[in-house]
Amino acid sequence: MNVRTVTTTPFNDQKPGTSGLRKKVAVFQTPNYLENFVQAVFDTIEVPAGATLTLGGDGRYLNREAIQVILRMAAANGFAKVLVGQGGILSTPAASCVIRKYRTFGGLILSASHNPGGPEGDFGIKYNTPNGGPAPEKITDAIFARSKVLSSYRTIDAPQVDLDRPGKQAVGAMVVEVIDPVADYAELMDTLFDFAAIRTLFAGGFAICFDAMHAVTGPYAKEIIERRLGAPAGSVINGVPLEDFGGGHPDPNLTYAHELVEIMFDIGAPDLGAASDGDGDRNMILGRGFFVTPSDSLAVIAANATLAPGYASGIAGIARSMPTSAAADRVAKRLGVPCFETPTGWKFFGNLMDAGQVTLCGEESFGTGSSHVREKDGLWAVLFWLNILAKRRQSVEQILEDHWAVFGRNVYSRHDHEALPTEIANGIMDQVRGAFAALPGKAFGNYSVKVCDDFSYTDPIDGSLSTGQGLRIIFDDGSRIVFRLSGTGTEGATLRLYLEAFEGDPSRQRGDAQLLLADLIAIADEISGLKARSGRERPTVIT
Ligand code: G1P
Ligand code: ZN
Repeated sequence: MNVRTVTTTPFNDQKPGTSGLRKKVAVFQTPNYLENFVQAVFDTIEVPAGATLTLGGDGRYLNREAIQVILRMAAANGFAKVLVGQGGILSTPAASCVIRKYRTFGGLILSASHNPGGPEGDFGIKYNTPNGGPAPEKITDAIFARSKVLSSYRTIDAPQVDLDRPGKQAVGAMVVEVIDPVADYAELMDTLFDFAAIRTLFAGGFAICFDAMHAVTGPYAKEIIERRLGAPAGSVINGVPLEDFGGGHPDPNLTYAHELVEIMFDIGAPDLGAASDGDGDRNMILGRGFFVTPSDSLAVIAANATLAPGYASGIAGIARSMPTSAAADRVAKRLGVPCFETPTGWKFFGNLMDAGQVTLCGEESFGTGSSHVREKDGLWAVLFWLNILAKRRQSVEQILEDHWAVFGRNVYSRHDHEALPTEIANGIMDQVRGAFAALPGKAFGNYSVKVCDDFSYTDPIDGSLSTGQGLRIIFDDGSRIVFRLSGTGTEGATLRLYLEAFEGDPSRQRGDAQLLLADLIAIADEISGLKARSGRERPTVIT
C-alpha cells in the first residue's frame, strides 16, 4: 500500500467549542479543505493498530464524494477497517448506535444537521468518540489546534468503493464493509419499545403522519413505522432522501415543517404528527391540532417512561439544557431522581450518561434522547410517543392535559431574532447584564425577580467549567426569561429569548402560549431594550 503525503496549507476555520466543521459546500470543495480537517482528527485521536472507524452521513450533496476521500485517508492513517452505511447513509443516532454496538474507534459523521443542503447549501463533518457521542471540547480543541499547523495529509491511491454494494471491499490494506444503515438501529429500537403494542395500535386504525423532510430518516421511518409496526404505506411522507432535501430546510419546527403542520391542523388530521431533521437527531411531536413543546415532550416521556420495556425499571435521572423548561424537573422531583441543568448542546449530556447518572436528556430545540446512544434521537422520540399512546389510549392533547393537571404547566416559548448585526446583539446582551445588579427584588406587575445570573456549569463528572452560557432572570414563582446568543447561526448574530411561565391552576393552563406569556414578553423587552436596539417589531421565528 503506497501512502502518499500531500502538502497542504493549514486553513481550517472550525469555530472553537463546536463539535465539528459546518460550512457552505463551496468551502468544502476548496482543495484540501476536507482533507485538512480529517487529517487533524486522525492526528489528534492517534489511531491504534487494528482500529475500526464508523462512517456515514445524512446523504446531502457531497456526501458520497467526501466518503471516498475519507476512506482513502483512513487506509493511509492506519485504520484496519471502516463500517460505512450503504449509499453512504447513516443518521446521526444510527451512527452512534453502530459505534457502540461494534465498539469502533469512534466515527466520522457527515452532516450539517438541519441546515439546507445541495450545491448552494451547507455540508459538515464531526468526529464522535468510541462512546458514540460528539467529541468533548478537549478533543475538538486539539483537532482545531492541529488543523492550524499541519502541513500535509496522508492518503493512498485506490479505486472508488462501491457504496451501494453490501459486504466487504478493500481499500489498500484496509477492509471497507458496507452495512445496512437501518438494521442495527431498528433492532435497538425493538429492544426499547413495545413493538407488539404499537402494532396493535396501528391495526386498530390509529393514524400517524411522519414527515422525513426528504432527509435521512426516510428509510428508517419506512422500515420501522410502516414495515415493522404495520402503519399503512404513505404514513411516512417525503421519505426519499434527496441531496438537497427537495430544496427545503430540513428542520422539524412549526416554521419549516409547514406541510406537516398544515396536515395536523386540518380536518381529518391523523392522531400523531412527527418530523425529524436532516440527520435524524431532532424531532417534533404534534397531536391533532396540537403542538407539543419539546420541553413538555421530555417531561411526558419521563413521566410515562416505565410504559416502555427498555425503561420499565425506571430512569436514573434526567438532564436538560438550561433554556429548556423546568417541566422535566417537576417530574424528576416526583420520581425522586436527580435532574441536571446543563449548558446548551448535546455534548454536555455525555458524561452524565456515561456515568449512569441520567437516562433521559432533552433540549428545547427539538432534541430528545436517552442513554441508548450518545446523540439525540428523533425517531426514538417518535417511537416513545407511539409506545405511550399505545398504552394510554388517549389523544396527544389529553395526555398533555392530564400531565399539566398533575405537574402544572410550564408555558413556554422561544423567540429567535436572526441575522442581527453582531454589535446590536452584543449591545442587547450588555444591557441585560448591566441591569442585573438592580433586578433582584424588583417587581414587574405580578412578577418579582428572585435572582439573575450568567449561567455557568461545572461538569459533575470531570469538573470542567463552562461559563457565559446565557443570561437568566428567574422570578419568585419559577417563571424565567433567558437571553442567549446562538452558537450555530451562520449569518450575523442570532439572539434567542426563552420565555417560561409556570401555571399551576388547571383552569388557566389551556390556551395559547404567546397570550399566556404576554407579560413576560413585555418585561423582557423592558429589561433588554430589544425592540428599540434591533429596530424590529417582532422575532424572526417564534416557537
Ligand atoms: C442550537 C440549539 C441547541 C442545539 C444546537 C445543535 O444551538 O439551540 O439546543 O444543541 O443547535 O443542534 P444554538 O444555535 O442555540 O447555539
Ligand atoms: Zn440534526
